[in-house]
Amino acid sequence: MIRVVFLGFGNVNYNLCNTLHKQPYVAVVQIYNRSESAVSAAFNTIPFTHKLSEIVEADVYIIGITDDAIAAFSSSLPFKNQLVVHTSGGVSMEVLSDRNRKGVFYPLQTFSKQRAVDFTEIPICVEAANPSDVVLLKKLGGYISEKVVEITSEERAKLHLAAVFVNNFVNHMYAIGHEILSENNIAFELLQPLISETSSKILGLSPSEAQTGPAKRNDQKTIEKHLHLLRDSEHLALYRQLTEAIRTKYGKKL
Ligand SMILES: NC(=O)c1ccc[n+]([C@@H]2O[C@H](COP(=O)([O-])OP(=O)(O)OC[C@H]3O[C@@H](n4cnc5c(N)ncnc54)[C@H](OP(=O)(O)O)[C@@H]3O)[C@@H](O)[C@H]2O)c1
Repeated sequence: MIRVVFLGFGNVNYNLCNTLHKQPYVAVVQIYNRSESAVSAAFNTIPFTHKLSEIVEADVYIIGITDDAIAAFSSSLPFKNQLVVHTSGGVSMEVLSDRNRKGVFYPLQTFSKQRAVDFTEIPICVEAANPSDVVLLKKLGGYISEKVVEITSEERAKLHLAAVFVNNFVNHMYAIGHEILSENNIAFELLQPLISETSSKILGLSPSEAQTGPAKRNDQKTIEKHLHLLRDSEHLALYRQLTEAIRTKYGKKL
């Protein structure tokens, strides 16, 4: 049995808790959060505290809090020589306090409390200073996911950078598309099959092979038309920059 304490209860730890506490070989022995409001009734069978001094004994402590607060928070933990991991893609393992054994348990997915996710296919990227802790984290990850990989902080930083491009930036593109359509009273759902196909397509083709559109074709007339439609828009510069980046990549400079 692996005993887990969640430290922080935002989007990630909420979802991790939801899946880990259903596993037969895992016991979620406590949830700590700075404020009491974060824990929903769904977890009222798990002991909760908002006092650091009341944190109980566990095999692994999972910090799931704002990146900038991880270092100071780990230094404030009132115990030592325990395995303390964070869940961040962009934060080095080394920021964790030396008073405890350090590790990372990074689930590579986008999480929201409002949306339950299936962890089976979510890569869990683990790292630990101590080899036996790597074994424990792989075991813990293996209970919920079929893709547990050991990667270094340097590799994780690159992975996180790529993830920002394919998730956060792409989602921002959805937001712009949504805005353009709602300003013109056109249903966003008309774009949904295109959005689905765009992401499904790269399962069989490389992103370069899958690229289409006026910038790749260097279709001047269409590009000019779009620039005209965007003439008073805050999105004009972004359209130009993305168009230029695609043209450069596919060798069709002006
Ligand atoms: N969301 C994602 O899609 C995602 C995916 C992979 C990894 N991650 C990583 O997972 C971690 C948590 O992200 P999240 O999205 O779950 O966060 P979140 O939903 O924004 O929740 C933030 C949590 O941090 C706590 N917190 C903030 N500042 C704190 C401080 N100074 N001391 C103690 N607790 C503090 C908050 O407590 P209160 O409730 O008291 O405010 C809350 O529990 C981050 O390292 C993030 O990079 C996120």
